[in-house]
Order: sequence, then C-alpha cells, then structure tokens
Amino acid sequence: MNNNKNISMKEIAELSGVSVATVSRVINNNGRFSEDTRKKVMDIIKEYDYTINMAAKSLRVSTSKTIGIIVPDINNEFFSEIVLEIEKFFFTNGYSVFICNTSQDDMKEREYFRSLDSKLVDGIICISGREDIPVDSIKRKIPIVCIDRKPKYDSSAIYVESDHYLGGFMATEELIKKGCKHILILTKSKSLSVNKQRLDGYTDALKKHNHPIDDKLIVKLSGNRSNFEESRDAINYLLKKGIAFDGIFASNDWRAYGALVALNQNQIPVPEKVKIVGFDGISVSKYCYPAITTIYQDKKNLALEAADLLLSLIEGKNINSSQHIVIPVSLIERGTT
Ligand code: RIB
Repeated sequence: MNNNKNISMKEIAELSGVSVATVSRVINNNGRFSEDTRKKVMDIIKEYDYTINMAAKSLRVSTSKTIGIIVPDINNEFFSEIVLEIEKFFFTNGYSVFICNTSQDDMKEREYFRSLDSKLVDGIICISGREDIPVDSIKRKIPIVCIDRKPKYDSSAIYVESDHYLGGFMATEELIKKGCKHILILTKSKSLSVNKQRLDGYTDALKKHNHPIDDKLIVKLSGNRSNFEESRDAINYLLKKGIAFDGIFASNDWRAYGALVALNQNQIPVPEKVKIVGFDGISVSKYCYPAITTIYQDKKNLALEAADLLLSLIEGKNINSSQHIVIPVSLIERGTT
C-alpha cells in the first residue's frame, strides 16, 4: 500500500471494499450506490486527503453536475421564489440541485457548507443568514455566488442584490409624500448589509425632507420569531407605550402585514390614520386588505443573474460582469398609502 497520502482510486477501492467504478460513481455523484457505500468511500477519501488528478479527471470524468443552494428561510416566498428559479435554470442545464434551508442558524449554515463540499458540488449559491459565509468549511476551491446579502469581510465575493438603499429611500419618500410626519421603520437587528442599506435609505429620505430622525421610531426586531408575529407585537407594544406615528416602513412584506393586523386589532384605520409600505412584493402584500404598498424586488432576475454567473464560473468562462450586480427595485402603490 502506498504509504504517502497520495493514494490511487484503485487503492481507495481496495480500502473501501468496492470496485474502482463504484469509487468513480461516488466521487462524481452519479449512478447507483448505497449511503453506506458513499460514506465508506468518502471516509477513506477524507482520511487520505485524496485529491483527484484534475488533468486525469477532466479526461476521464465530467464534473459532479450538482450545485448547492443555501437559503435562510424556505418558508418565505421571497426566498422560495428565488430558489425555484435557480433550480429550474440548473435543471435545464443538466445539473441537480441540493437545497439547504438554514433557518438563519449560523452553525447549520456552516454544516451545510461542509456537507455540500463532501458531496463534491461544482458550485454554491448562497443566500446567507450570516454576516459572513463560512468558506473555511470548504476544502475544495469551488465558485460561490451570493444573493441579497454581501459577505461582510470577503471583498472578492461575487454577489447579486436589489438596490436596497434606493428601496428604503423610495418607501420612506412615498410615506412623506402622502403626508406622514412621524415615520416608524420596522427592521432587523442583525447587521446584514440589506438591513443597513434600507435603514440608510430611510434616514436619508427623512433628511432630504427635513424630517427629524427619532430613535424611538427606529425599531430593530430580533428575527428570532416569525416576521409577522414580531412585527404585530411590536406595533401593539408601541401603541400601548403611546409612541406616536402616522407612517410605517416595514423592511419586508410579512412585517408590513403584521403591522397592519396590529393596527386593525386596535381599530386604527389604514391608510386614513396610519400608512404602511412593505418590501419584497410577495403575494401576502397583494391579497390582504387593504393591499400593501411595497417595494418590488425582481426575484426572477436576481435568481437568473446569480445562476448564470455561477454556471459561467463552473465552466471556467471569464465573467466580464462586475463582481457586484445590483438589480433595480420599483414602488407598487396600493391601499395602505
Ligand atoms: O423577506 C426576507 C427579506 O430578507 C427580504 O427583504 C430579502 O431582501 C432578505 O434580505
């Protein structure tokens, strides 16, 4: 047995008790083999830190033709719409997709990166719930494209996002133009790039129209409970405390709907007494009553731009677009303003 780390596929087969063909199938994740066989082979690969001879590999076998998608909350239509578009894109291009829902749990996100690496995916699309993505969990050099949230410390990250700043500015200016004088922002405490950009848009719109910035009207929710419940309870709390406001910019449509329900529960007419603007443009904003004015994010374009970038990187094409693609947003005016 070759004592140094650089063992052959044949020796992996002997150590795992399977054929070389099975080892090849496991490495390329194609064809039939049991989970037990996959684990045995992968354990040997990891133990011997086996690296595939890329020249030989490119001659003998194709890529794994799989990609991974990291998503923070598959229950939220904003994310599930994006995931669906990415899955359709890659299926059409002959790839299978592993969808990994992290429930905004940092450790789970790290574990999924590790797991996708061990499945030898060719690339990852990451909509992260973390401030920075755990690239140290990946042993192989594979392309990663982020959507919506910019990794805080990775200046070389390739990411696609909506114009969150302009969205926050437009939402706030819509409320100001409709006569609001005391505008509350319902956002999240987690310092993700999205939250900061929208908050900056809110404060800059207030400054442009010479409205004072009142810290009591900047409400940062923990995100530990559902967007709807946290927002509904926050509005009930503010009303009980006697905090005066006549406009609400909620940083997503579920928070906007939670605010609407709280106002209804307190017999406060919308939009007569309080006006509301949401963010995302998902179906809940369209089908509630009154329908919610919102900032529309172009979910299909966000998904396809990111997917096309990742496929180009997997295929080794030089991507001529900038590392940072910003997709425009638009205001959809409805009954809450
Ligand atoms: O609804 C989920 C929110 O978190 C969206 O606004 C999206 O941009 C993400 O950041």
